[in-house]
Amino acid sequence: MSEVCQLKRVFLLSPNAIFVILPSPNQTRIRMMAKRFQFNFLKLLNVFLVCCGLLLGSQTFAQEVNPLERDPRAARVGGSLFRAQCATCHGADAKGIETIDAPDLTLMFTRDGVNDGSVFQVIRDGVPGSIMPPHSFTDTEVWTLVSYLRSVAVAGTTSPIDGDPRRGLTLFNENCALCHRVNGRGGSLGPDLSAITSRRSQTALVNSIRDPSANIGRRFKPVTLVTTANDLVQGTIKSEDAFSIQIMDSNQILRGFRKSALREVIHEETSLMPNFSDSDLSNSDIDDVLSFLQSNQ
Ligand code: HEC
Ligand code: HEC
Repeated sequence: MSEVCQLKRVFLLSPNAIFVILPSPNQTRIRMMAKRFQFNFLKLLNVFLVCCGLLLGSQTFAQEVNPLERDPRAARVGGSLFRAQCATCHGADAKGIETIDAPDLTLMFTRDGVNDGSVFQVIRDGVPGSIMPPHSFTDTEVWTLVSYLRSVAVAGTTSPIDGDPRRGLTLFNENCALCHRVNGRGGSLGPDLSAITSRRSQTALVNSIRDPSANIGRRFKPVTLVTTANDLVQGTIKSEDAFSIQIMDSNQILRGFRKSALREVIHEETSLMPNFSDSDLSNSDIDDVLSFLQSNQ
């Protein structure tokens, strides 16, 4: 995404480069230039306005720190704005929705280079070449959205997990590797867990292991398909539209089905990952597994 964004920005800014090379440009000249742009290149008008937006935007961009950071009301206000303006694509909880390919926004702050300022900018400019639209909110409104997104952001585990990673590896191989990959080895019914501790808090990870169905990952929604021959196929949904569905079946084979060839598509509530209770794995067993996962990053 960022490459697209950058390319577009360089391209869009090139007409403005004229202003930049002019020795101390004054307002009248800029206005005249702007006029010429408008008259001579009506079709470029849009581009020009976007450029102005980007220039203004980049001034705001210098402000990396959310001025509402310490205001607890900001996240609430931003939450309402989010549900009204963004939820159709990103989901009411910002975690994305099945049918639209818009990202889970609770994860982005764990990526390098993503901060309040960069998120502000994306909300304002949109993402050129994608359906993510630009928004003409006031600065304050955009910052409330940033506050809201911060409040739902998933934080990684920063402190070292107290456990025995060697024992964790053994437990992982016995209980988890069937479905999860770490560093290229293991199954793929569940998500790759190689860098999971940098994206999830320790509490969130423990919850995922004790009660997987409480919060099922977006690309791992469980489904049961009933074929016209009355066979049952279980798996996780990889993509779905009105006519077809692609799943990773429980034998970890990617399969596509035309819906017309299915008797029923049952969206399940229970994760394909089993619950690990205390008698399966004690708390200290889980710490060992997690310390193994953390040691692997
Ligand atoms: C029409 C659908 C749509 C709407 C409405 C929409 N978005 Fe997006 N948004 C997207 C898509 C698609 C992307 C991914 C763009 C890409 O990278 O190709 C995206 C990307 C983003 C990103 C960057 C995510 C990242 O991982 O870097 C942020 C932040 C964001 N949207 C916030 C918002 C906010 C806040 C709103 C409401 C004010 C909003 N979006 C409304 C579709 C939408
Ligand atoms: C039978 C397959 C299976 C086994 C065995 C299994 N998992 Fe999972 N796991 C899944 C699936 C499918 C998901 C995604 C759906 C969900 O979130 O519940 C998942 C999700 C997770 C998540 C959430 C990842 C995220 O992105 O938040 C964690 C953490 C996890 N598993 C850890 C483990 C650990 C640790 C073990 C072993 C103790 C294990 N799993 C055993 C299938 C499995």
